Amino acid sequence: MSDNDVILVEHPLIRHKLTLMRQSDTPTNLFRRLLREIAGLLAYEVLRDAKLETVTIETPLETMETQRLAGPKLCFVSILRAGNGLLDGMLDMVPSARVGYIGLYRDEATLQPVQYYKKLPDRLEERITIVVDPMLATGGSAAAAISRIKEEGAKDIRFACLLAAPEGIEALKAAHPDVPIYTTAVDRQLNELGYILPGLGDAGDRIYGTR
Ligand code: PRP
Ligand code: URA
Repeated sequence: MSDNDVILVEHPLIRHKLTLMRQSDTPTNLFRRLLREIAGLLAYEVLRDAKLETVTIETPLETMETQRLAGPKLCFVSILRAGNGLLDGMLDMVPSARVGYIGLYRDEATLQPVQYYKKLPDRLEERITIVVDPMLATGGSAAAAISRIKEEGAKDIRFACLLAAPEGIEALKAAHPDVPIYTTAVDRQLNELGYILPGLGDAGDRIYGTR
């Protein structure tokens, strides 16, 4: 892929669940469950072109040729901490995937990402790597995480989020034009504090019940 694609993953079930997540009175346990469910639906689209290999198996009745995901195992990279909310649902779909973590938080004054942790699987150059974070706001966190992953050799990288702001999409496209962006909604804009409008608030706080 030579230029960045923005793939809007739309489905009535996703729309419905996302509406519930946006509501300020949705409790933590439901918010977390809905995110996990949407992540599974998002995984379908992100992996639509995943490579298959032909294998021969025995059913209880006869031998057949069929297909399974080709190796090496794909890799999810969660941007801590809110990324873990999406990660769980993706792992429900692909339990054998490898998992990496990049710890980043946004400095509240500068909105710049600050890295505090990194642990990635090996052979990233051979794997599909899917970076997950529910929120693409200024795009700083996603761009920084993808830079770290490229330094470790990853080539086929996709970014999956729940909500994207137009500002974040432009920033990520500029920084990593080769990385497609999968999102379930593109919201209107950022506010002066870097929050997505209308958005759903602070994803990490809503997943984990912090403030
Ligand atoms: C949130 C979110 C993204 C980042 C997006 O994380 O999960 O990582 O903000 O903002 P950006 O596009 O402007 O970089 P936050 O920094 O609040 O940390 P948390 O996940 O630990 O709550
Ligand atoms: N991070 C969040 O969790 N929410 C936003 O609206 C923007 C960044």
